[in-house]
Amino acid sequence: MSKIDLEKYSRYSKPGPRYTSYPTALEFSEDFAYDEYIKYLKSGSNKLSIYVHLPFCRSACYFCGCNVVFTSKEEKLSSYIEYLKKEIDILATHLDTSREVIQFHFGGGTPTFYKAFELDEIVSYIKSKFPNWSSSAEISCEIDPRFFNEEQMKVFESHGFNRISFGVQDFDPKVQKEIHRIQPYDITQKAVDLAREYGIESINVDLIYGLPYQTFNSFKETLALAYKLNPDRLAVFNYAHVPWLKKTMRKFDETTLPTPDVKLEIFSHTIEFFEGNGYRMVGMDHFAKPEDELFTAIQKGELHRNFQGYTTKGGANLVGIGLTSIGEGVGYYAQNTKDMAKYEEAIDSGRLPFERGVKLTDDDMIRQAVIMELMANFSIDIKRVEREHSISFGEYFGDALSALEEFVAEGLVTIDSDKISVSDTGTLLIRNIAMPFDAYMDKYGGAKKSFSKTV
Ligand SMILES: C[S@@+](CC[C@H](N)C(=O)[O-])C[C@H]1O[C@@H](n2cnc3c(N)ncnc32)[C@H](O)[C@@H]1O
Ligand code: SF4
Repeated sequence: MSKIDLEKYSRYSKPGPRYTSYPTALEFSEDFAYDEYIKYLKSGSNKLSIYVHLPFCRSACYFCGCNVVFTSKEEKLSSYIEYLKKEIDILATHLDTSREVIQFHFGGGTPTFYKAFELDEIVSYIKSKFPNWSSSAEISCEIDPRFFNEEQMKVFESHGFNRISFGVQDFDPKVQKEIHRIQPYDITQKAVDLAREYGIESINVDLIYGLPYQTFNSFKETLALAYKLNPDRLAVFNYAHVPWLKKTMRKFDETTLPTPDVKLEIFSHTIEFFEGNGYRMVGMDHFAKPEDELFTAIQKGELHRNFQGYTTKGGANLVGIGLTSIGEGVGYYAQNTKDMAKYEEAIDSGRLPFERGVKLTDDDMIRQAVIMELMANFSIDIKRVEREHSISFGEYFGDALSALEEFVAEGLVTIDSDKISVSDTGTLLIRNIAMPFDAYMDKYGGAKKSFSKTV
């Protein structure tokens, strides 16, 4: 990427969705009824992607935006496993469990807060109920390197796990102290070595930019150390600062957060650094080695985006199991309750702990296709959208096209008769470029307490 005047683009820093879904989670409501959700589950026939949420963590990382339960009580952890099993039993009565499982993901929280035998118990139980796993299934777990041992790795190996994602965030001790996550480099290196020793083919490392006390130079050091780990993929997330939703974020002195122009500088350097070292940018915040399937998918225009980020496995029905987890299928999103007492109560009464969701209208489906394509492939194939949704793109998206004019004038977007393309610099502002296609944006009108900032 050539040298650009990044300060100029800091004016685009405004609240905006990250588009892991469209419509965004703000549109999820209880209007989407339980019985409707069950109908979707029963009628689905696509392959399955199973997500299991293990929400527990020992202590709070102050930046964390995930759905987490802090505890060190053994009985809470083991009782949750019993509920997961009951939830799986109920689920199995509502969908065809012989459907092929092509993706399985343990997310959290800290899944490896559980002991090896407990992780084994959960995966074995799921496999006993959903027996048809594809031989090429993507089987993955998010791991906090501070909680990871060989016994757990052996369990992952025995169940065919082939991807591990390690949370790092930042290596600078000053930043680590401020975010309440002390994680010396050696701990991460050992965790990565352990996964490699057991043949994990794909190792991802998560970093975050925009954290307190990060500077351009400090993040450069973090990048060099992350590169030393030789990961197959990296996710470099823009810190989503939403203190109105997450209390621990209020502990940060906001004057220590890097300003939008510094963040842009950091991220454009990140792109330069990884592209100069043999990685390719994939989507809004991922980097992969050129031989990685994510990269091959982007070349074929087959990269997809869902709640788990970027994936090559489009078209599967995502089934969420556990507290707060989100499911997704053709025409709907469905989310489990965030409240442990309600979660248990639902299951005790023989119901799924489903709480809210959204049923997509025809308009939602068209916009979903366009926004997800933009977020994944940084372009829109106008003719394909017209063909698949029987619309005239120019007429349907007249307002959006007018709103994109300012990006066109800046050279960030090109629009021609069959394609909309985003330039390299434009990718830094991809959330802003997607927002004109979002029919719900007017409703929030840039309200401060809606989304995190785009830059
Ligand atoms: C659910 S966490 C699980 C990882 C594991 N618990 C750990 O901390 O190592 C997944 C990733 O989300 C990212 N993340 C969490 N909070 C975030 C925030 N507020 N903004 C951006 N990314 C965030 C972090 O990079 C983290 O590694
Ligand atoms: S970042 Fe990971 S370990 Fe830290 S609180 Fe969030 S889920 Fe837990």
